[in-house]
Order: sequence, then C-alpha cells, then structure tokens
Amino acid sequence: MALQKIVIRGGRPLSGRIPIEGAKNAALPLLAAALLTDQTLVLTGLPRLADIASMTALLEQHGVQVAQNGDGGKTLHLSTPEIASTTAPYDLVRKMRASVLVLGPLVARCGTARVSMPGGCAIGTRPIDLHLKGLEAMGAEIHLEDGYVVASAPKGLKGGLVRFPFVSVGATENILMAACLARGETILENAAREPEITDLAHCLIAMGAEIEGVGTERLVVRGRTLLHGATHKVVADRIEAGTYAMAVAATGGRVELVGAKTDLLGVVIDTLARAGVEIEPTAEGMMVTRGPQRLTGVDVMTQPFPGFPTDMQAQMMVLMATAEGAAMITETIFENRFMHVPELARMGADITVHGASALVRGVKRLSGAPVMATDLRASVSLVLAGLAAEGETTVNRVYHLDRGYERLEEKLAACGARIERVSG
Ligand code: EPZ
Repeated sequence: MALQKIVIRGGRPLSGRIPIEGAKNAALPLLAAALLTDQTLVLTGLPRLADIASMTALLEQHGVQVAQNGDGGKTLHLSTPEIASTTAPYDLVRKMRASVLVLGPLVARCGTARVSMPGGCAIGTRPIDLHLKGLEAMGAEIHLEDGYVVASAPKGLKGGLVRFPFVSVGATENILMAACLARGETILENAAREPEITDLAHCLIAMGAEIEGVGTERLVVRGRTLLHGATHKVVADRIEAGTYAMAVAATGGRVELVGAKTDLLGVVIDTLARAGVEIEPTAEGMMVTRGPQRLTGVDVMTQPFPGFPTDMQAQMMVLMATAEGAAMITETIFENRFMHVPELARMGADITVHGASALVRGVKRLSGAPVMATDLRASVSLVLAGLAAEGETTVNRVYHLDRGYERLEEKLAACGARIERVSG
C-alpha cells in the first residue's frame, strides 16, 4: 500500500453533524466472545477499522466462520462450530495487542491455548501478567515456550477468586469471558468498569452467561458448559465522540455528534465545561459548542473509568496548548504516552514533561508543520492540532488513524474542515 498522509489547512471552525460509530474497544472483545459458543453470534454496529479486520482475520484462523451482511462489515455473523486451531500466531498478535483477548475464551473452551507474547509497544511495555495470573487462579497452568504463552487446563477451568492488584481493561475482559465457561463460580475483584466491559457483559448475558455486578468493580460469574448464540449491538464509541468534541473545542463552532452518549463521557464533559466548552444532550446524541473566546487551562489526571480516559489525554493536551493559563496533565495509566509532546512542540506548543506529568503553558496560536505520530490517539491529537493551527499541517503515518477512526477526514471535511488524504 502506498504511504499516505493527511494534509490539513487549519483555522476553520467546524459546524454540522458527525456520526459516531460503535466502539472499537468494545468490538474487539465482543468479537473474541464468538469463540465461546458453537452457535452464531451476530454483532451489529461494528466500526469499519483496520483493528477489526485484524481481529476478524485472527478469529478465522481459529476456525470462526465470518459472514458479512452486505453493509460493508457493520454487521458480522460469527459461527464457531469447532475450534480449528488454538494457536494465535506471532504475525497476527504482533499487529494488534488486543489479540491476547482470544486467550481466555480458547482455554475456557478447549482446555488449551498458545498465544504469542504481545511484546512491547509504543505506549509502554504493557505486560499481560494480570491476564495470566487470573487464568492461573482458575486452575490453568501457564508456561512460556518459544515466545508463546501456553495455557492449559486439560480438565477445564474452574471458578476461583481473581483479585486484580490494579485495574486492567484487557485482563478483566479475558477473565470475564473465561469465567463464563468455567466450572463453578468466579469472583473478579477490582475489575475494570469501562463501558466497553459493561457492553461485553451484556452480550455474554444475552449468550446465556450468568453475571452479577455488571458495571461495578466486583463481578460474580457462574460458569456454563457452553454459551449460545445471540445478537448484540456494539455500544457507541465514547473515545471517538470525545475526540470530535475536542476537535470542535479546538477550532470553535457547533457540531452535533449523532449517536454519542453523554452518560459515558461524564468526567470528559465536566472537564471540557470547565475549559469553556458547552456540551448538551440532544434527541440523537449530543451538541458541542465553543464560541470565539479562548479556552481556560484545566488540570487533568488520567484514571480508570469513571475517571478521565487515557485515550483522550493527547487530544486534551492539544486544547490546553492554546488555552489561557497553564494546565498540568498527568498520565497514570501508561508510562510512555507523551509521544505527541515533541510533535506539538514543533507546532509551537510550550510543554514541559516531568515524569508522568506535562506542564502545558497555553500559547496564542499553534502553527502548521509536518508531524509524525507513533500511536492512534497521538496521531488524532495531531490532526486536532492541525485543525486549530495557522497554515498547513501534514500528519504522516496515517495507518495509525485507520486503526481507530472510521472515515476521519470525510467526517471532518463534511463539517467544513480543509483536510485531505494524499499519497506519497
Ligand atoms: C485497553 O488496553 C484499551 N485497548 C486501550 O486503548 C486503553 O488505553 C486501555 O485499555 C486503558 O483504558 C482496548 O480496549 C483494545 P489495560 P489494555 O490492561 O486492556 C498495565 C486505544 O488507543 N498492565 O487496562 O491493554 C498496562 O501496561 C487503546 O484505543 C499490566 O501491567 O489496557 C497499563 O499500564 C490503547 N499487566 C495498565 O496496566 C497486565 O497484565 C492498564 O492497561 C495488564 C495491564
């Protein structure tokens, strides 16, 4: 594929409507849940993204039959009468960390699984020790072999107490899925409460799972021998919605985010309100308005849900880069998620990083520049910076954006942004 970049001529307010897709981070575990039944799981409202295609390819390799509905992949029918392979190979796992979500379902259904170790990635080392300890607490034996994690429970997993020492979204999802097919009762303590986990739990319940405490940090699961088929609609993407809300906050203007849910964005909406952005629920989603006044600097610390999401930290930093006064942005989830800082500095931002905190002193204006990013949310933050900046910004490595934002430039251009994708 030819290298592509996004070229933005900044300084235009946004106005119009932007449709919000189903959440990528809900869809990935939901797809893995197809492994828990020999019947058909129908998922609707899927976003059309590179990460979803990667997960589908991994599942096909495990024996999942994937059929489309003629709507370009928004609806998928997933049937797994038999597991063809219990190995998740390096080539597929390497592309996407979330591949590790097949581990729990595969051991639970087949008593064994081999998943390539995901390794490091741009936003930190991101180990999977919590996933493995959770499976051990359910009777699995784990060892490492040629770069693969091998988990085995020949007589099946059994219920147990899994207390997470800190909150992990992926580990909660893996153990929750595995527990659905374990013998007896599994208790997950200090579980993640992200809306994507609640969405997964609702789908599992529709598939016949017995789960109590949905939406809380204590989940109680009574296992079943096999789940059955179901139809489930993927929850709206709160990170996509929050990102576009911040795009409007960056440029000024008024945009309705169709399909967005304000109740999934509590702290983000409060933080934006303090900075001077108005967000109101509408019949179809939410309306975001920012007038011509400058934003005000507000401090932000990322936390597990219901706290401020790490997946919106980079976008928030862009807003603070031109706000009145200073803002302290502290990242507590990942140890290396400030790669956008040097790029923003190239556009004129005044940011000093001390350990896990970035002190952002607002400047009057950013100016366009060629920039490059190393992960999805950092890339989109640079798009936001480009929309707000004077002059032309080129964002390289567009493939990061395609992992998580469906038709990004089309959606922004429809609201008046001067943005296009070019080859070379
Ligand atoms: C999920 O990643 C999301 N990915 C991430 O979204 C998101 O940033 C993250 O949760 C936090 O909200 C998906 O849902 C597919 P974690 P995940 O386990 O599950 C450490 C995006 O841009 N940890 O909650 O991998 C870990 O290193 C992405 O869409 C361990 O130490 O995140 C991190 O510091 C990027 N051991 C912290 O916990 C473990 O076994 C939280 O990670 C697991 C995690």
